[in-house]
Amino acid sequence: MDKLAIQGGAALRGEVRISGAKNAALPLMCAALLTRDPLRLTNVPHLRDVSTMVRLLAQMGVAATLDDRGALALDASGLGNPVAPYDLVKTMRASILVLGPLVARHGEARVSLPGGCAIGLRPVDQHLKGLTAMGAEIAVEHGYIHAKAKRLKGARIFMDLVTVTGTENLMMAAALAEGTTVLENAAREPEVVDLANCLAAMGARVTGAGSDVIVIEGVERLSGAAHRIMPDRIETGTFLVAAAATGGEVRLTGTDGTYLEAVLEKLREAGAELAEEPGTISIAMRGRPRSVNLRTAPYPAFPTDMQAQFMALDAVAEGTGVITETIFENRFMHAIELQRLGANIETSGNTAVVKGVAKLDGATVMATDLRASASLVVAGLVAQGETVVDRIYHLDRGYEAIEEKLSKLGARIRRVR
Ligand code: UD1
Repeated sequence: MDKLAIQGGAALRGEVRISGAKNAALPLMCAALLTRDPLRLTNVPHLRDVSTMVRLLAQMGVAATLDDRGALALDASGLGNPVAPYDLVKTMRASILVLGPLVARHGEARVSLPGGCAIGLRPVDQHLKGLTAMGAEIAVEHGYIHAKAKRLKGARIFMDLVTVTGTENLMMAAALAEGTTVLENAAREPEVVDLANCLAAMGARVTGAGSDVIVIEGVERLSGAAHRIMPDRIETGTFLVAAAATGGEVRLTGTDGTYLEAVLEKLREAGAELAEEPGTISIAMRGRPRSVNLRTAPYPAFPTDMQAQFMALDAVAEGTGVITETIFENRFMHAIELQRLGANIETSGNTAVVKGVAKLDGATVMATDLRASASLVVAGLVAQGETVVDRIYHLDRGYEAIEEKLSKLGARIRRVR
């Protein structure tokens, strides 16, 4: 199993390019299931989750070719086997995103139930509730969701809570349904908007994406399209935090600050200087960061996917920061690992109180999930001596070439195979 060995202490300096967004790429790839025509995606990040999705789609009969410049051509004209098996779904919960498109175009899907995961229970009841409202017959048997419908029908669906992939699944299903679907209490995440834009290019009639009410007028068929995937706002935020924690000065290209206002605001509060130009964000941190309080919530509030990285920042900041996690019930596993590096963190329920310390000491730590791993890397970049981050397959799911990008910024980091 690969590990990352980091010699801490170097301030990050220089320029790095941000990749396309993982959480936009995965639903966009599933949108290919909605049409017989080819869908061409560009700015596709080279990530393990993207390869897992390619494998999942390929075993359903979708032809996929990814070139080394990040262009992915998907052709679902030969779609035959509408099954998402357990061994793929268990490694990537976003596999559930095939459900809506498969029922809508193929009339049937068998998708393994994702089950729990490290950060919480994460049920899919809202996905199923929405599809049922659209007329799908759904049975859960032997650990699989079996959904069938001749043709889905438009419906008014109120989601009990804000779910990102739930909104995306239902939006894709509704695009081919008969009649109009109204999704209320929809997720407003930028990745939902990116998907809606691609669906529109494919001929779907979608309005309201980015607000909490999305209206989809179903059409008979969708066509192919070409779509450039939006920048990864979480990768962007992670590099900004790494720069801030190490007292560095970094310029990020290929990204966009408008997607991460809540994160930029917290970085300013921590004492960072930020400058935005179209397509770039620059950050400079002079001196030690100040602690920040934060509370995760659905977009446009502070993203849960940035919570762990900010805990690492608070761990070395001046003062005490209070972090409240409201999206996932078990998303503080990085706290214990950060403590192994000398951080002073007390967690109670969904709150963590982080008292900043002047220095962290390198140690071996274990990554438990994707963003937790990123927080351990940030801490390792600051800690004195060597930090070894174990189980970085989590990191490889969502960060493209992270050690190469960090090395380019002057970090002393290497992959140990
Ligand atoms: C997506 C992101 C993930 C991010 C999360 C929250 C992708 C591929 N993943 O995950 O990186 O951390 O949004 O911003 O885009 N829930 C239910 N029932 C449902 C669906 C969700 O109870 O049917 C709950 C979940 O357990 C969780 C909350 O709703 O507590 C939000 O989850 P959701 O937005 O669905 O997360 P994902 O879409 O899985």
